[in-house]
Amino acid sequence: MIHPLEQLRDEALREIDSATDEQALEAARVKYLGRSGSISAWGEQMKTLPKEEKPVVGKLLNEVRTAVTAAIESRAQQFRAQKESGALAKIDISLPGPPHELGTLHPLTQMWDRSIEIFRRMGFALADGPDVEDEWHCFDALNTPPEHPARNEQDTFYLPDGRLLRTHTSTVQIRTMQAAPPPIRVIAPGAAYRRDELDSTHSPQFHQIEGLYVDENVSVTDLKGALEFFMRELFGPGTAVQFRPHYFPFTEPSLEVYVKSKALKGGEQWIEVAGSGVVHPAVFEAVNKARSDKAYDPEKWSGYAFGLGMDRLAMILFAIPDIRLFGQNDLRFLKQFA
Ligand code: PHE
Repeated sequence: MIHPLEQLRDEALREIDSATDEQALEAARVKYLGRSGSISAWGEQMKTLPKEEKPVVGKLLNEVRTAVTAAIESRAQQFRAQKESGALAKIDISLPGPPHELGTLHPLTQMWDRSIEIFRRMGFALADGPDVEDEWHCFDALNTPPEHPARNEQDTFYLPDGRLLRTHTSTVQIRTMQAAPPPIRVIAPGAAYRRDELDSTHSPQFHQIEGLYVDENVSVTDLKGALEFFMRELFGPGTAVQFRPHYFPFTEPSLEVYVKSKALKGGEQWIEVAGSGVVHPAVFEAVNKARSDKAYDPEKWSGYAFGLGMDRLAMILFAIPDIRLFGQNDLRFLKQFA
């Protein structure tokens, strides 16, 4: 004869087995195992049983409870698995993943890289200096007296403490010579700052490559040879280079450098790309004074220096019409140089 508890168990197992969703399963759980569920009710009923029946029925009750609990758990597990595979089925694994955008080098960086590579072949090493400078490195040491217009408040960004944003990278000439005796052959790429209104060809922040070569018997012909080589490597063998007399306080003679090439934007037009010249003896003397030695004896050593306008060179090379494009971070512009 089968015990009513066993009957109850079989009924519960059937119901659990046929539950079609989590709600139906939960309803079955409450019905049999809930606080006033029918299996739980047997616990109460136990108390009324004769003593000798208690252990047998108690054991059976435990078995029934365990079996029903296990059945509910395994059915719940089935529902969870179904749900997961349902969610996975919605993912189309044949679709391409979201694109990972790779950055590219800014056209000015590319310009710097190309230029540095050319100067390296000529034996130039890299030098560096701070953007925030003192007046001595930016002007005095470069033979630029206090009354010079470049030192004017209208032309230079001064900080409240008297320091300034360097108006050219020529400051690195001085810092390099302070740090080491001749011979020197360095280039210094970096930013420079002037109080210019922002328009298509002017920017208060622009970029230069400074060059300095100091050795015995350096003359203006060495300067011309180096810069002509540089321009032809950069713009192609058909590039014409022109040197026009100019004035800089820290070079004598001073020359402005112009290029012209059919391959370049502007075609037959001469475009100014650099300032240059033979290092003025007064610059060597200022360095000697700061070093408190005679390492840069102007009787023994001579040198040339130049400052190349990087923005201008990049605008010519990449046919960029407006200097403001360099700083606007517009991907439509930058992507063209990928
Ligand atoms: N520093 C000058 C400028 O910014 C360029 C220059 C550099 C000229 C070196 C001569 C020698 O205009």
